[in-house]
Amino acid sequence: MDTSNKVYPPFPILSTKRLTLRRLSIDDAQKVFILRSDSEINKYLDRQISTSFEDAINFIRQVNENIDENNALYWGITILDTNKIIGAVSIFNVSIDNEKCEIGYELLTNFQNQGIMKEAVEKVIDYTFHTKKIKRIEAFLHIKNQRSINLLEKLCFKKSTERNETNTEIIGYQLTNSN
Ligand SMILES: CC(C)(COP(=O)(O)OP(=O)(O)OC[C@H]1O[C@@H](n2cnc3c(N)ncnc32)[C@H](O)[C@@H]1OP(=O)(O)O)[C@@H](O)C(=O)NCCC(=O)NCCS
Repeated sequence: MDTSNKVYPPFPILSTKRLTLRRLSIDDAQKVFILRSDSEINKYLDRQISTSFEDAINFIRQVNENIDENNALYWGITILDTNKIIGAVSIFNVSIDNEKCEIGYELLTNFQNQGIMKEAVEKVIDYTFHTKKIKRIEAFLHIKNQRSINLLEKLCFKKSTERNETNTEIIGYQLTNSN
């Protein structure tokens, strides 16, 4: 528990036609555990798979600390009028000059193929460009992650020509605010 007198900015809850994007709490640990341990969801993600419920709790604590320190934003996705987490979208690695940030996202398998992530990411892009005033959003993904490539291309992200010298299987996409 934070016992300091720090004043944190309010968390930006976002809404779309079908979804609410909100801050995570420890009560979401079970869904977060599935997101971070399911082999299908994690197939192309370069991260340690969660092996215990405790991992999910620690992850939520870490995420909320990063939000409070203004280092990143991490939204849990819920279907409107339910409070259950079905996925997540985050922006992180925000450059000091607000020139760019990275985006990441993931969805429980039984909620995929319904346009839910497109709806959520569109809202986060709008928030990132128009409220956070960040000029460019980047995504880095595995070259075989076709569903993620489809999503980015639908949202008008352009494939980067720069190559990742340390891992040639990772490709980059970017979207620049044209306004
Ligand atoms: C990447 C990921 C989020 C994409 O999820 P998704 O459900 O395919 O994404 P979308 O929200 O764009 O849905 C697209 C599909 O929904 C379909 N769809 C159904 N109803 C729809 C509607 N009302 N509106 C829009 N699309 C709809 C679309 O036709 C599309 O299917 P298609 O690609 O076969 O044409 C998901 O595959 C995932 O969680 N992967 C694991 C984590 C991961 O790899 N994250 C990326 C890290 S870079």
